[in-house]
Amino acid sequence: MYGPRIEGEKVVLRPHCAEDAQPFIDMLANSTVNRYLARQEPMSLQAELEWIEARATDPNSFGWTIEVEGQCVGTVGFDHISWRRGVATVGIFIGQPTLWGQGITTEVASLVARYAFMQLGLRKIQSGYLAPNVASGKAQARIGLVEVGRWRAEHFRDGQWVDHILTELHRDDWLASQSES
Ligand SMILES: CC(C)(COP(=O)(O)OP(=O)(O)OC[C@H]1O[C@@H](n2cnc3c(N)ncnc32)[C@H](O)[C@@H]1OP(=O)(O)O)[C@@H](O)C(=O)NCCC(=O)NCCS
Repeated sequence: MYGPRIEGEKVVLRPHCAEDAQPFIDMLANSTVNRYLARQEPMSLQAELEWIEARATDPNSFGWTIEVEGQCVGTVGFDHISWRRGVATVGIFIGQPTLWGQGITTEVASLVARYAFMQLGLRKIQSGYLAPNVASGKAQARIGLVEVGRWRAEHFRDGQWVDHILTELHRDDWLASQSES
């Protein structure tokens, strides 16, 4: 499913559209961007269009295109949603390294966590990151995703095996953090 338009201070989250396909391919082909992603091989235009189309009807995923100043700069979404257990996996990329370190992911993650807990009725969101991906770890910690374990030596990156750190955020803990702030 596509998520509805959500406006933040720095970003707009909006439904995907076919025009996003080429920017997604270009951004994800950048080795700086895909360095710590599970998939590093570029998609064809046809495959990317099919992914965008399939997401519109997949009842177990929920996603947005991220815009900054009217430009498509990445995606965020929930996959592998179990409506029965109230659990989903969140993933994000910001495809323009010049935008990194400006709090964009922190804002996006906060917006979609709120949406997951207050609109979708989810009970828990899960995520993860490769150990050397310090920025992702910090951004996840910012919204309360805490480490619950790791798969050791799970992926091969830059000549060595690195751990995949597993994180989660429970709705009750998120609600408590909201009343504190
Ligand atoms: C990981 C990623 C999503 C972070 O996005 P971002 O918009 O730069 O994150 P933010 O600006 O909200 O920063 C979050 C934290 O990371 C820190 N950070 C950002 N870039 C960093 C870097 N290159 N090195 C170290 N820390 C960094 C910020 O200082 C901030 O830390 P703080 O909480 O101590 O202030 C982005 O770098 C990205 O899209 N990378 C490529 C795809 C990817 O790896 N996705 C995640 C897969 S798990």
